[in-house]
Amino acid sequence: MLPGGRLENTVMEEDPIYPNRQGKSVYIETYGCQMNVSDSEMMTRVLKQAGYGVAADLEQADVILLNTCAVREHAEQRILGRVGQLAQCRVRKPHLLLGLCGCMAQHLRDRLLRQIPYLNLVVGPDGYRRLPELIARASEEAVIDVRLDRTEAYEDIAPVRADGVSAFVTIMRGCDKVCSFCIVPFVRGRERSLAPEAILADVRRLAASGVKEITYLGQTVNSYYHDETDFAGLLRRTEDIDGIERIRFMSPYPADMTDRAIEAMASCKKVCRHLHLPLQSASDPVLERMRRQYTVGEYRHLVRRLREAMPDLSLTTDIIVGFPGETEEDFRLTYDFLEEMRYDSAFLFKYSAREGTRAYRWGDILSEEEKNRRLEEIIALQERITVEANREWVGRIADVMVEGESRRSDSEWYGRTSQYKTVVFPRNGERPGEIVPVTIEEARTHTLVGRRAG
Ligand code: SAH
Ligand code: F3S
Repeated sequence: MLPGGRLENTVMEEDPIYPNRQGKSVYIETYGCQMNVSDSEMMTRVLKQAGYGVAADLEQADVILLNTCAVREHAEQRILGRVGQLAQCRVRKPHLLLGLCGCMAQHLRDRLLRQIPYLNLVVGPDGYRRLPELIARASEEAVIDVRLDRTEAYEDIAPVRADGVSAFVTIMRGCDKVCSFCIVPFVRGRERSLAPEAILADVRRLAASGVKEITYLGQTVNSYYHDETDFAGLLRRTEDIDGIERIRFMSPYPADMTDRAIEAMASCKKVCRHLHLPLQSASDPVLERMRRQYTVGEYRHLVRRLREAMPDLSLTTDIIVGFPGETEEDFRLTYDFLEEMRYDSAFLFKYSAREGTRAYRWGDILSEEEKNRRLEEIIALQERITVEANREWVGRIADVMVEGESRRSDSEWYGRTSQYKTVVFPRNGERPGEIVPVTIEEARTHTLVGRRAG
């Protein structure tokens, strides 16, 4: 998951099919995880179909929607700040509508309308189909739609995606786990999987439009199940789609990683050799209080099986430090476990108490100072391990999918290896989407630098 950062506006293509009936245009600003990016792409389709234009920038918009994250308090505070900033646009444009969508909308509901009098619209993750009518009503009065719907999967709505060689495909929504720290099940509702036919049709359309890599998304993506098709079955069926060269997915839940899924990963050549496998903590008592449904021993065993099946697999994870009651000893166990696992990289989070969750009742016991100390310590460790893991690539040849021009120079490409490592190398007639062998010559903290091999 992306830790609460803002992503650029997710839209995109001119669409001549739908006339812009109201002459109004919408701008969506997306925060949080890839699932939100994917949702914004789907919301764009809903709005286009209703005749809305897509504003190229904020200045041109008649409606601004923020698609928000509620996973940590920090994310919410940043978004509140942003809403205040955007309200200034009203001075020049009195008819501007401002809406908050997504997880934070679902979490804070009508409290948002009370707190922010100039907000016109609050829409939760299951209300996007109704966006056009909600926006229409919002010019009269403040509107809120935070109904959760056990069946809404939006599988008939084809997302409007930005051009590129890589695309997100949502395969399941919601979450049925009960991690005691996590707000997601409350704001995204019950788990539901999209029909495999709808998913595969979308992937085929993407392949036809030149997309080479897809990333399947779900809160517990490997819990995917629809009628007779499980996650392993879906991977195998995706493998057969011509034009798609790489298949990724985010994020699997460790306890649901079946032998069938491991076998499917290992035997499908297009499935990338990278797994983001959230651990959260390496102390059994903490895992139990987190209600993670696995022990450290089981997680270790799972990684052993994965690495046996796929020796070139890279592994990344999520860790929370400062969970209520995490002792120094618990923290040390996690610290030592990172050293043992040698993750290629990790998202390291400081615990944030979220109202409504089970852990919220236990309070935020550790001081901010103590949580910061643990976080800094573990970040320093992981940075060292990440560099060491990257250095192991120096001298080797990696297959790199060209994604675009490097940020530093237009004479260089950036791309990714199957292991999800970013590689920068000099351009020499390649095209985005092409997979080329690159000899790795240098390892920096977050990038490998190389030269085309052969
Ligand atoms: N299953 C989801 C997880 C969503 S939240 C997935 O697709 O990855 C992403 C990560 O945020 C979690 O793995 C966890 O490490 C972190 N997180 C969730 N709730 C948190 C909280 N209350 N405080 C700090 N970090 C949290
Ligand atoms: Fe959250 Fe746990 Fe689900 S981290 S998204 S409740 S698997």
